[in-house]
Amino acid sequence: MATIFHVSDLHIGKYSKNIQAPDCDISMEQFHLHRVHALLNEVESAARRTVEAGDNSVVVVTGDLTDQGWDKQFACVEEELQRIKGVCPVRIVPGNHDYGNFRGCLFVKKSVRCFDELAHGLGMKVDFSAKYEGILESHSYAGAPYFETFGGADHSPVCLVYLNSCSSEGLEDFSRGDLGDLQLEMLESGLNAYLKENGNIPVFLCMHHKPLTRGYPDPVMGLDKKDRVRLGEIANGRVGAILYGHQSELKFLQDLSPIIWPAKGTQTPILIDGNGSVSTSLGYARISVSNGAIDPGWVAVSEPVFAEAVHA
Ligand SMILES: [Fe+2]
Repeated sequence: MATIFHVSDLHIGKYSKNIQAPDCDISMEQFHLHRVHALLNEVESAARRTVEAGDNSVVVVTGDLTDQGWDKQFACVEEELQRIKGVCPVRIVPGNHDYGNFRGCLFVKKSVRCFDELAHGLGMKVDFSAKYEGILESHSYAGAPYFETFGGADHSPVCLVYLNSCSSEGLEDFSRGDLGDLQLEMLESGLNAYLKENGNIPVFLCMHHKPLTRGYPDPVMGLDKKDRVRLGEIANGRVGAILYGHQSELKFLQDLSPIIWPAKGTQTPILIDGNGSVSTSLGYARISVSNGAIDPGWVAVSEPVFAEAVHA
C-alpha cells in the first residue's frame, strides 16, 4: 500500500507583528507556531507508523509554508520538515505567501530562490523559479513539471507531479494563480510520455491554487479560468487526484471535479483540499492507494492546550 500525507498552508510566521493579549505569556505568532508544530508532530508519527508497516509513504505540503517568505520563516519551515524527512520523503510546492510579502500579494525575487533552496534541501530535483526565468534576468524556460515515482511494483507505486501555480502574469496581485500555457503544454506531453512508459500508476498533481470554477466559493482566489479549463482537459482520464490548498471555505474532501470538468466516459480527478490543515481546525489528509484505487480520508488533530503552549 502507499500512503500520502497531505498538509497545506502552514503560514509559519503568521502574526509576525507579535500581537500579544495582555494576560497571556505568549504571542499569537508563538501560539500559531505551536499549532503547526503539533500538527507536524502528528504527521511525523503517523508517517513513521506507515513506514514501519512497510507502506510506501510520502508527505506533501501544497504551498504557503511561510506567511511572508522571509529568511527566518524559511529556516523555521526547514527545521520542521527536515525532522519529517528523517522518516519519509517530504515534497513541497510554492504558494503565493512563500513568494510574496505583504500577505502574499507582492512578488519578491529573493523568496523565489529561497523556496528552491528549501526544495533542493529536501531532495527535490526541481527549480520552481524556472517559471520566472524571463523575469529573473534570463530568457530560457528550463522548468518542465517534475514527475517522481514513489514505490516499486510490490509497493503500490504512485506518481507525484509538482506544479507552480503562483502567478506569472499578474505579479502586482500575486494571490491569484495561473499555470501558464507553457507549463500546461509540458504537463500534457509529460503525462502522455509518463503513462505510456509506466502504465496505470496513479498520478497526483500537487499545486497551491485551487482548481475550482470561478465564483466558487469566491471569484478571485482560484486558478485563471482559461488554465483551469485546460487543466481539466489534460487531467480527465489521466490524473487520479489533485492536491491543493490556498484560501478556501470548502469543507475538506468535497469532490467537485465531475461538476467542474464533466467529461462523459472519463474518470475525473479527485480534488483534495488540504487547506484545513491549520487555518480552521488542525488536521491532515491521509490518502491510501492500493491496487491503483485512491481512498482519501481526513485525520483531525487535537488542538494544543493553551497552558501547554505557555510553558512549552
Ligand atoms: Fe495562498
